[in-house]
Amino acid sequence: MSEQPRPAGFQGYHQVKSAREDAELTHVGPGTPCGEYLRRYWQPVAMSDELGALPRVVRILGEDLVLFRDGSGRPGLLHRHCAHRGASLEYGIVAERGIICCYHGWHYDIDGTILRAGSEPPDSPVCRHVVQGAYPVHEHQGLLFAWLGPPEERPPFPIFDTERMPDATRKPFSLTTPCNWLQIYENTQDPIHVLHLHARSSGVQFGAASGIDQVIEYRDTPLGMMNVQTRQVDGRVWVRTVDSILPNANQTGAIREEAEAPKAFQRCAMLRWMVPVDDTATRTIGWRFFSPRLDPRGQDDPDRVGKESIDFIGQTEDERSYEERQRRPGDYEAQVSQRPIAIHALEHRASSDAGVARLRRLLRQRIRDLAAGKPVCRPDAFGLDAVPTYCQDTVFRWQGPDTPSEEDLRAAGRRIAGAVLGSGRLPPRERETQVREAAEPAFPE
Ligand code: FES
Ligand SMILES: [Fe+2]
Repeated sequence: MSEQPRPAGFQGYHQVKSAREDAELTHVGPGTPCGEYLRRYWQPVAMSDELGALPRVVRILGEDLVLFRDGSGRPGLLHRHCAHRGASLEYGIVAERGIICCYHGWHYDIDGTILRAGSEPPDSPVCRHVVQGAYPVHEHQGLLFAWLGPPEERPPFPIFDTERMPDATRKPFSLTTPCNWLQIYENTQDPIHVLHLHARSSGVQFGAASGIDQVIEYRDTPLGMMNVQTRQVDGRVWVRTVDSILPNANQTGAIREEAEAPKAFQRCAMLRWMVPVDDTATRTIGWRFFSPRLDPRGQDDPDRVGKESIDFIGQTEDERSYEERQRRPGDYEAQVSQRPIAIHALEHRASSDAGVARLRRLLRQRIRDLAAGKPVCRPDAFGLDAVPTYCQDTVFRWQGPDTPSEEDLRAAGRRIAGAVLGSGRLPPRERETQVREAAEPAFPE
């Protein structure tokens, strides 16, 4: 078979130099299809610790807002500019109930209704006709979540099963990245980058085992999708599943997993949301989980987790010099340098981009479904006390006569992934047993 000749080199002059971004997936302002979709889910907007005595400006989904806690302890999230004549409520006076605009004293409750319109009489018509834009806020485990969707569609606040991990503690964090939300989110379904960016390009940045080539597959989940990464590590098989909970949440397993000891259904080290600030900036807000099981070597560091800081490399600009970031780039450098909004039309996607392509397809479908009036697919506890999720790590000793082939690894990954997906409605202990049984006869060592 004759091989097709490769294209000639030095083609810079002839190549397309500009193209438009994929607005359907990347534009998030009010009224945009993706913005509407993201507004159908509770979104974290800040850490509780960020909220002191003074109001705080927050930009989220392209909207300028002010977040505050009133004198009775209730969080409020209002449009930044006062409905009267536009002064910013960041200069407002926090009251026992609500907030008072500094300029003419209009006093708003946390739902935006006017309690008193400054010097207007108490029965002024403005109190009946005007309401400041406001969003409901739900405070949960050190994070403030907001509902930015239509008030009549507000769903119950979801609790995820990984929040119930036994013996785990958690710490909230928030990281700002100057690029579009999708390039951070789709990184969660780009497992091949772990091998290249985090092992070959920059030296081992996480566990050494993560630098071993993996067999990768993708599966849909009731909440979105997951990737299944299967590796052979010193005679053991390590199956990691990483889930993307649509529209913009992700869970990832132990940061420095070395797959040294057999284990079944070890849950996640992180639950995070990639929340668009606007089209060209993102805040990743979530919880970092800690437990001896997730970190047997004691390398995790809760003291480094918080505002613009996390205990693993390559997530912020300030942590290292530019030169050091050039020598050993991390996720931050790779993602931000894809341009403020990555241009999909200029990409040349290959087979290893199957996860990214699948995630984009899923998002596009959900965005179009919403626009077509179809019901939104939401995390649902299915009558359970927490929403089942699918991120985990399982490690077992390989029992075959030879080292496992690629097909052996693929089959092992499928078995474990099948048990993880199929056990969603079971209590955690029973799920663990099912996954453990899927790894047998390798268990127990
Ligand atoms: S601008 Fe806020 S009260 Fe006048
Ligand atoms: Fe990464």
